[in-house]
Amino acid sequence: MKVGILTGGGDCPGLNAVIRAAGRRVMTREGEVVGVLEGWKGLVEGLFTPLGPREISGLLPRGGTILRTTRTNPFKVDGGVEKVLANFEREGFDSLVAIGGEDTLGVAARLYEEHGFPVVGVPKTIDNDLSATDYTFGFDTAVSVATEAIDRLHTTAESHNRVMVVEVMGRHTGWIAVVAGIAGGADMILIPEQPVSIEDACKELRHRHERGKDFSIVVVSEGYELEGMSEAKDVDQFGHIRLSERGVGTALAHEIEARTGYETRVTVLGHVQRGGSPTPRDRVLATRYGLKAADLVAEKRFGRMAALHGDEIVDVPLAEATVEIKTVPAGWWAVAQAFFG
Ligand code: F6P
Repeated sequence: MKVGILTGGGDCPGLNAVIRAAGRRVMTREGEVVGVLEGWKGLVEGLFTPLGPREISGLLPRGGTILRTTRTNPFKVDGGVEKVLANFEREGFDSLVAIGGEDTLGVAARLYEEHGFPVVGVPKTIDNDLSATDYTFGFDTAVSVATEAIDRLHTTAESHNRVMVVEVMGRHTGWIAVVAGIAGGADMILIPEQPVSIEDACKELRHRHERGKDFSIVVVSEGYELEGMSEAKDVDQFGHIRLSERGVGTALAHEIEARTGYETRVTVLGHVQRGGSPTPRDRVLATRYGLKAADLVAEKRFGRMAALHGDEIVDVPLAEATVEIKTVPAGWWAVAQAFFG
């Protein structure tokens, strides 16, 4: 059995832990493991590297991905899909483990449906926006980085009587903002799923200051739609604009200061949320996903994705995971909202 492993999309804490676990289990069963370099680009261009016990050792705490990654979409490359299929065949692969988010796994789902491609998926993303799984690995690490940042910003906010705006990632969902915001005691959270207007947000801040508080922490998700903001222009091969380019945090800070008169500063956390070592929870989740992916491959149950349901690792159709993004439910929002104003 020759199994390819690829990592696609943004890097994410825990990718190496999945490679280690899936590789280890395949090798235990006398299988051969090959790394596909740079996501789907590696299959389009034939970029491979052998993975043996030495290559997969020491990976558990290591951030990023030893296989490197791109946002290449073979369906948008001239002859891309044909090249993927030809290189897969030429290299003598029996199956592929694709570790990625909505985009990478969307390609996997299409290749499986349209070409019977023998692929299984592992749900990765700091955004936690994949359907059919309770959590993706990487999310816990991002939340932990954002929470620590909010804690640190509290001291400056309090010392200077300021409003501190923290912009976090999350693409078109507010998972990182809501969970880190609750954990860090945010006084206002703005996310794409809940169109709270800037005036209503300022009203809550005024109310808080009127009842004796001299500072506030506002967490804003990069995908929040601030009235009057211009759209970013750059679009990747999956049709996504670069949300960080819009500078929602900075625009929001200016608006808050202009409308309330409170001195306001902004911190954009950016890629710090994606870098470095995974939390213990992400290491364990990534490990369990990696083992499950290797099991799915051994059982030839292709077109499936490892998923977390409650505390159980299960498998679900890839198509179900990628059909729509998973947004923050009202119940989570209600918990956050209880502490506004
Ligand atoms: O999907 C993960 C993510 O970090 C998003 O939260 C963010 O919008 C995007 O990737 C940033 O991508 P890039 O690294 O290409 O700027």
